[in-house]
Amino acid sequence: MLKGKHIVVGISGGIAAYKIPELIRILRKEGAEVKVTTTKNALEFVTELTLQTLSGNKVYSDVFAAINEHSTEHISLPDWADVMIVAPATADLIGKMAHGIADDALTTTFCAMCKPVVIAPAMNDKMYLNPATQEAMRKLSGQTNVTMLDCVAGELACGTTGKGRMQEVNVLAESIRYALTNKDLENKNVLITSGPTQEAIDPVRYLSNHSTGKQGNALALSCWRRGANITLIAGPVSALPSVPLFYGCKEQLDIIPVTSAAQMAEQTLEQFEHADIAILCAAVADFAPTETAQEKIKKQPGQTQMTLALKTTTDIAATLGKTKRTGQKLIGFALETCNEQSHALHKMESKQLDMIVLNSLQDQGAGFGCNTNKVTLFFNNGTKKDVPLQSKEDIADCIVDSINLL
Ligand code: C5P
Repeated sequence: MLKGKHIVVGISGGIAAYKIPELIRILRKEGAEVKVTTTKNALEFVTELTLQTLSGNKVYSDVFAAINEHSTEHISLPDWADVMIVAPATADLIGKMAHGIADDALTTTFCAMCKPVVIAPAMNDKMYLNPATQEAMRKLSGQTNVTMLDCVAGELACGTTGKGRMQEVNVLAESIRYALTNKDLENKNVLITSGPTQEAIDPVRYLSNHSTGKQGNALALSCWRRGANITLIAGPVSALPSVPLFYGCKEQLDIIPVTSAAQMAEQTLEQFEHADIAILCAAVADFAPTETAQEKIKKQPGQTQMTLALKTTTDIAATLGKTKRTGQKLIGFALETCNEQSHALHKMESKQLDMIVLNSLQDQGAGFGCNTNKVTLFFNNGTKKDVPLQSKEDIADCIVDSINLL
């Protein structure tokens, strides 16, 4: 979603400045154009050459430099930008920005910026707790175009441990995507199930499937960026989405980890009551062992076969379909290997879904594990929409755009 976006990266003189070249790489890899402005002190921590090479543009750090493209870079940069991120923002810089002081390249640019700005503070824990710093952060977080991030606790460069660390660069990139997104799901409660389930056979073995939870994670982030409150009920997956921590707010992405279909059913049925939208992306096991052996099942001498008795699990989607209130939107997924369309349409009808997302394992680059997907959306009014092969993040955005039209 950052493709073609113009991003100004403002760097001040904190040790966390060493991480910003990596942020610039992430942004450019996604197709954004980046221009950098710095305070004088920032260049003590990261070189102008590094920033110029990685951004592909001249660095704006001296208001009076003769080499500046325009004589008024602090106006042309905000005009060019779609968004600005200030990272790291030191206590000194935060104090200046909060009070309208504009005495160098970075602060003059910030002062002239009416478009979205993300501020990522980083400082020593005592400087963070200083009432003047806190007041400045509060003031900036109330500015309508500013997304004020918080510091996180951890090891600090001065050797102590406390709250003062800058948030990680992948999370900063996420905060830029957030700042650029229309809040068309503001205050909506979105419930998402994701990943596989594991059905224990004995203490060592289980039945499961190849789901990795990537599409579910992408859906959670897409809805989060639009201002929704997210509850993600995730089966065992290797990666979960992380979102930035905003100043003065509690964590906004509620993740409930579960293992079995029974646990997923219990949590999802409980959470559904509060949901405006439920997206059931999880690959829930349809069958689980009738009994879980207490000890590891042993192979007997000469044994050539084993029969495992299975029972059906609760169909979460069908249960929610029966209980959903007017106004609640219920979206399901279908992963099929044959007669895809008719299976998907049957599932939508029998589970009383408002929309179903069909993946076919026959499509190259779609389904389990890949970073891309190709889906068809079927709506309960009889219409459908083909969404061509693209990243799971872009697929998630298309799905959520369609949910908004239901
Ligand atoms: O397993 P099936 O293909 O029927 O799954 C279709 C949809 O039903 C998916 O959205 C899946 O998350 C949901 N489902 C469920 N509970 C089950 C099985 C499937 O919610 N036990």
